[in-house]
Amino acid sequence: MADVGRHPNIELLTLSEVKEVSGHVGNFRVKVKRHARYVDEKECTACGDCVEVCPQVGPDEFNFGLVHRHAIYQPFPQAIPAAFVLDMETCLGNNPRACGKCAEACEKHCINLDAVDSDVEFTVGTIVIATGMEPFDPLGMTEYGYGRMKNVITAMEFERLASSGGPTGGDIRRFSDGKTPKSIAFIQCVGSRCEGPGNSYCGNICCMNTIKDTLLLKDHWPEIDVTVYYIDLRAFGKGFEEMLKRSRQLGVRYIRGIPGEVEENEDQSLTLHVENTETGLVEQHQADMVVLATGVQPRAEAHDLNKLLSLQLHPEGFLLEAHPKLQPVDSPVRGIFYAGCAEGPKDIKETVTQASAAAGRAVRLMSQGEIAADPYTVEVNEDKCKACGLCLKVCPYGAFEWEKGAKAEPIEALCAGCGTCAAECRFEAITPHQFSDAQIVAQVEASLSQDPEQKAVVFACNWCSYAAADTAGVSRFQYPANQVLIRTMCSGRVDEKFILRAFELGAPIVLVSGCHFVDCHYIDANRQTVRRVEKLWDKLESWGIRPARLQLEWISSAQGQRFQKTMEELERLRREVTPREIAHTRRILKQKLHPPKPKKQARRKGVAAHA
Ligand code: FES
Repeated sequence: MADVGRHPNIELLTLSEVKEVSGHVGNFRVKVKRHARYVDEKECTACGDCVEVCPQVGPDEFNFGLVHRHAIYQPFPQAIPAAFVLDMETCLGNNPRACGKCAEACEKHCINLDAVDSDVEFTVGTIVIATGMEPFDPLGMTEYGYGRMKNVITAMEFERLASSGGPTGGDIRRFSDGKTPKSIAFIQCVGSRCEGPGNSYCGNICCMNTIKDTLLLKDHWPEIDVTVYYIDLRAFGKGFEEMLKRSRQLGVRYIRGIPGEVEENEDQSLTLHVENTETGLVEQHQADMVVLATGVQPRAEAHDLNKLLSLQLHPEGFLLEAHPKLQPVDSPVRGIFYAGCAEGPKDIKETVTQASAAAGRAVRLMSQGEIAADPYTVEVNEDKCKACGLCLKVCPYGAFEWEKGAKAEPIEALCAGCGTCAAECRFEAITPHQFSDAQIVAQVEASLSQDPEQKAVVFACNWCSYAAADTAGVSRFQYPANQVLIRTMCSGRVDEKFILRAFELGAPIVLVSGCHFVDCHYIDANRQTVRRVEKLWDKLESWGIRPARLQLEWISSAQGQRFQKTMEELERLRREVTPREIAHTRRILKQKLHPPKPKKQARRKGVAAHA
């Protein structure tokens, strides 16, 4: 961080909040709110004169509230910039000024109690999101007594106790009496891999963090009895298994079983009630201190960023990458990258690796000087556009310039080519540069030109369902050969007119298939697919056409077998559709889609003349 602070090409904005982001790769416009520091960060030498006279204290956030800090303070010893900051909420107040002693004590006159927040705006080519994570708060898990029992602490609090710069100078002491504990119990997976309060996913770092803590304890206080309670230990990675072995060799006890309850004894030591799954017995163990190995979770700000940047969140709340294997540091929006726990729980090594990769990806993009836009974009026919703005509403990337009453204009650098806008536009004003309406309808017509009643039409998205067909083929999964596979870039591209045209030409069954939710290659374009298909089901029903003849299925590229099963089911459904039903459908669609033009009435004048 010190290197970042010193680097001539890096401008570091601390105490800042991103308020607005617009534009696209190569040209993002960012609005940032800079909160007032009240201290001139360039002049302040962190001498501490101001702190000595400050009468107000508040909880020290860096030490998880284990100690207090003054209203004017340095957030942590290595903070960059190495300057003090004034917390106005803890300060006695400045309106009217109640104290002002810090400003009087500062010989360099760095403190300005009248400073105000300011807004800055700048343009950047790429963005790297590194918003980190926050530890799970175990207050809601009342069975462990955290918050009620002084000697139950979290792993992060233990970390501060063990740090030489921490509140105890690196001494492990009980909060109840300040004595060194004779026994410490670590409880794993607190707030991870659980239902109810907590998260369903693995926190990734907790096992190795605990093993590291046990080694530290055994190195410095070999007499402390250390026990770890776990579900299973995840010591994967280079050198990690060896650390676990060493911990066991040093006498740390590992018990497979998570305590159901922690009770406080009269002397404020603790009793843990645990089912030992190795012995099958419910046991009671004593400990002087309990450390909860709490998991990690996304920061609340991830939700706001997600909205600001049109990104997508994983159901667990972390930001979703463009592709979990092939683009693990790319966001779905070109020019935006992820580093660290914003994307998922990870340890320091993984974070540094990802951060280096993200920086490399950004530099690669920027160093080109100019960026070639993908040809997979759309164009708007101004004569047909009715300026309704629906295209912007459904576009996952917000890739349209549109204002009320104005024609829509696509932003080529933002458009990823899913085609959802074209499928949604009721005025046929939008034409994708690939997979145009005419091309797709031509494929439907050609494939149903012979024996349509023997076929099932499958619209498959390029990235998942179409790839699943490949997987099925490569894996030699057999399935009926009478399906007609029509590829679109995304299931969001499937316009209701393609489906109706297939039914009109005699197709017994139509399937729209795409990626599972959160897997859609175009953020969440497949949500529009669902909405559109549901609407069409209602329409078909109201027209007397069985909605079940239109199927919707999510198949990932790895699910070759699911593809096979879906095709078999489709064939079963196809056989249920009778020639009579097909003829009836064709008749209805002919009426609905091509109603006869009203006959012109004989002109009155002519009639009168004849009479
Ligand atoms: Fe497959 Fe959107 S890319 S459904």
